[in-house]
Amino acid sequence: MSDLTALDRIRELLDPALPEPSTGHGYLDLLGEERVDASPAQRLMRSGFLPRIYERVWRPALIGAMKGPLGPDTRQEVALVRGMLALGPADQVLDVACGPGNVTRALARDIDGGLVVGIDASAPMLARAVRDTRSGSVGYVRADAVDLPFRPASFDAVCCLAALYLFARPFDALAEMARVLRPGGRIAVMTTRRLPLAGPLNDVAGALSGVRMFGDHEVTDALARLGFSGVRHRVYGLTQFVSGRLT
Ligand SMILES: C[S@@+](CC[C@H](N)C(=O)[O-])C[C@H]1O[C@@H](n2cnc3c(N)ncnc32)[C@H](O)[C@@H]1O
Repeated sequence: MSDLTALDRIRELLDPALPEPSTGHGYLDLLGEERVDASPAQRLMRSGFLPRIYERVWRPALIGAMKGPLGPDTRQEVALVRGMLALGPADQVLDVACGPGNVTRALARDIDGGLVVGIDASAPMLARAVRDTRSGSVGYVRADAVDLPFRPASFDAVCCLAALYLFARPFDALAEMARVLRPGGRIAVMTTRRLPLAGPLNDVAGALSGVRMFGDHEVTDALARLGFSGVRHRVYGLTQFVSGRLT
């Protein structure tokens, strides 16, 4: 086990061209006052209230309803994602749009000597993540998922759950996830799925709310184009889980 703290170890992964991050809140902050995109859904994520109820109430209710009655519950979902990421104890793992760190902490249970990094744009979400995290293998960064602050090939595994649909440029974010993965690195994405038969209504609802609904081939095709092999796709209600390995 390294004597460095998780934040020290994350600093070593940052793009050296970036300005020095601030650390006053227990995470590395690369955004300061800067605001990334701000749709209604994004504004909700940055409220001080949501992080308090997110893990126990909001996520099980809302994401649970989207996954439908046959979908995995939160515990089964984490097990599914762990399987997709095939983590080893020494792996370096990135959780993109980690919110209050609910998945980040769960992934850290597989890690011994490695590192799990959660990134998110919301200061209130990260404050909660820092507050609720005890593991010395976990650290957090405030940054934009569409412009990841890490050197290329920094991570063995990357996941992005319940968030791709919020990003202004989701396919650029996927390209960033590929850039920071090592060859052979694994990815797991859970995102929305277009409501069958609703056609353009998906787009109208998405434009109004800021929640994009993805077609069944959009994410799989994007990963294949980015050089992932063994791309797998599972569908539960209005959600889809996509995984692959960077060649
Ligand atoms: C619904 S939460 C998901 C949290 C966690 N991944 C999970 O599965 O429960 C979505 C998160 O995405 C973050 N987010 C949205 N847009 C972002 C962006 N452009 N860059 C980084 N984080 C972003 C929000 O701040 C919020 O914390």
